[in-house]
Amino acid sequence: MIRIAILISGRGSNMLRLADVVADMPDEARIVLVAANTNCDGLDSAAARGLPTRLVDRRDFADRSSHEAALADSIEAAGADWVLLAGYMAILSADFVTKFQGRIINIHPSLLPDLKGLDTHARALAAGHTQHGATVHVVTPALDDGPILLQAALTITRAETEAQLAARVLRLEHALYPF
Ligand code: GAR
Repeated sequence: MIRIAILISGRGSNMLRLADVVADMPDEARIVLVAANTNCDGLDSAAARGLPTRLVDRRDFADRSSHEAALADSIEAAGADWVLLAGYMAILSADFVTKFQGRIINIHPSLLPDLKGLDTHARALAAGHTQHGATVHVVTPALDDGPILLQAALTITRAETEAQLAARVLRLEHALYPF
């Protein structure tokens, strides 16, 4: 039985997609925690699904290290083996990553190592890229840099807007992350 914690900061659509898939494999995996660093729609959606949720609000802590310590306590208390980042919009410290070494996975909306960081869709369009996509990778202390597990690519069409591209990549993410 794989016990999964999912960390989110926003809409939570990848988290919901993972929850759908995990619900179909009750003997193999269970989501034991959905935690957020800010009050967000995804946390409400997770609660509405009956998933165990925890708000570990960054604003309640003096610094990153005390916030991460509380986050780690929640993950450990839930007995999670794996930590899946799904739109978790904060950079994790080397200490936190080392504590869960090799057991934190992230999905990033670009074809890494291209376009690390934020605003990947706008940057892909501005750079005139013809290929874009999503990457699932192991988290290491360096940002968006760990070993790549999976990638899915799409072709950017000439007239595409940032919103259209973002929507297409998100659909790709929803197919990719459960693998
Ligand atoms: C997703 O596109 C995910 O890849 C991205 O945030 C979005 C979250 O959407 N993550 C990052 O940019 C991490 N650096 P969701 O909340 O609907 O899953």
